[in-house]
Amino acid sequence: MESMRALGYTTEVAVADIVDNSLDAGAQLVHVRGDVSDSPRWLWIFDDGSGMTLDEMVGALKLAAVSSIDERRGSDLGRFGLGLKTATFSQCRRLTLVSRKEGETQGVCFDLDELLEESDWSVRRLTPLELEAVPGFEQLDRFTSGTLVCWEKLDRLLESRPPGASGMGEALSSLRTHLGMTFHRWIEPENRNSRGLRLLLNGHQVRAIDPFIRHNRAVDSTAPETIRVGGDAIVVQAFTLPDSSKITGDDAEREDLGEGMFGAQGFYFYRNRRLISHGGWANLGSRRDLTKHSRILVDLPNTIDDIWQLDVMKNKVVPPAAVRRQLSRFYMVGGRRSGRVISYRGRRESTDSVKYVWVPVTERGAFRYEPNPDHPILAQAVEDLDERQRRRILKAIQQLGLLIPYGEIRRRMSVDDEKPSRDQPETLVEHATDIIRLMGLQDADARNLQQVLSSVEPFAGRRDLDEIVAAVVKKL
Ligand SMILES: Nc1ncnc2c1ncn2[C@@H]1O[C@H](COP(=O)(O)OP(=O)(O)O)[C@@H](O)[C@H]1O
Ligand SMILES: [Mg+2]
Repeated sequence: MESMRALGYTTEVAVADIVDNSLDAGAQLVHVRGDVSDSPRWLWIFDDGSGMTLDEMVGALKLAAVSSIDERRGSDLGRFGLGLKTATFSQCRRLTLVSRKEGETQGVCFDLDELLEESDWSVRRLTPLELEAVPGFEQLDRFTSGTLVCWEKLDRLLESRPPGASGMGEALSSLRTHLGMTFHRWIEPENRNSRGLRLLLNGHQVRAIDPFIRHNRAVDSTAPETIRVGGDAIVVQAFTLPDSSKITGDDAEREDLGEGMFGAQGFYFYRNRRLISHGGWANLGSRRDLTKHSRILVDLPNTIDDIWQLDVMKNKVVPPAAVRRQLSRFYMVGGRRSGRVISYRGRRESTDSVKYVWVPVTERGAFRYEPNPDHPILAQAVEDLDERQRRRILKAIQQLGLLIPYGEIRRRMSVDDEKPSRDQPETLVEHATDIIRLMGLQDADARNLQQVLSSVEPFAGRRDLDEIVAAVVKKL
């Protein structure tokens, strides 16, 4: 036990390991609280999960009661059957577990100093009076099942921190960032039907820190791509963050994750939606200025821990040879997209600049749409004008963009279930013909027309593009 204290856990990584157990136990609420008195004595982690019986608690304190070779449940965040002990004793010398299950509340205490005296592996069962004195015990009151993990004798946790309350304050502040990032997909699930995890730190909800800032429309992404390795599926999605001028307020804090864009570029490996490691290109490439806008999400199933060399602390993986080539392709693709952000700096954010007529711009938490001056309709319409006239027209259209009747549109589409006319085939054909004329492509052949239209909104990605092109050719 003493030697295992030196595995190299930081406080954040250790607490995240305890939270993993809570999630494995089906918790919907996890509350972490650190003692912020002048001489901090404890830090506890409470969850409303399934709880443990006395026997199960004693089992949980044994090392490697569940082996890493046994296949884990698909949803399991556990790994070696070590986390509870290794994480705890990396931070403190006394562990108390109090758990409620099947109407019974029991507690056990495991203290390294007592262990040394008795020179025997022993777990002490708490008396009812001792139970009530465990910091955080009252948390169990409101729930029919749950577990309290209480750390005391916080030698390592407070070591090399400022003395007194500010030492605990420092630990809590790094916890807020680390938990917000590690569990961001639990706090804000992608599946809108599932309820987000309530993760509290000293009473306050921990805010999800999404490294891909996915709610920001200026962020560009590829469709998720599945890579199969043996029987396992890895899902990879590349995100390209916009130039920092497009990221404001709270998002700015997320953008550089406290590490700077340069440091935060790279692969983000997740196992069961929990962030394992991030930043850097896993020996597939080096951090470069040109690639700094690229962040690549990699979802790993937990059945492949061994080949990915997941370590005890669950914060490092090494991609196996079988997927290295695939991942390096993403490094290249992401890098190219990132490079484009840099060369377009100061311009509109959409990387496929021809495609969209209206480009979303998010600023100070609100969005608007601006016309894309590179879109063929606009570009051709103002082509022959002089610079002053051109600016005036573009300015006017930009103003019109601000006046789009969003509320009205939403009502008609959602409440009245009406469809905009542009989605009707006749309108599309008419519109396509106009574009082709505007671009002076009347004489191009069908294949060329198809190619042009397929890169222009609203034709891009339409399955009936063949038919539209055929109708356009007839009209021309
Ligand atoms: N908060 C909890 N709620 C319910 N059971 C728990 C909790 N924490 C730990 N356990 C039990 O203790 C066991 C050992 O935990 P741990 O040492 O972290 O190893 P692992 O998570 O790899 O199985 C878990 O497998 C689980 O059965
Ligand atoms: Mg665990």
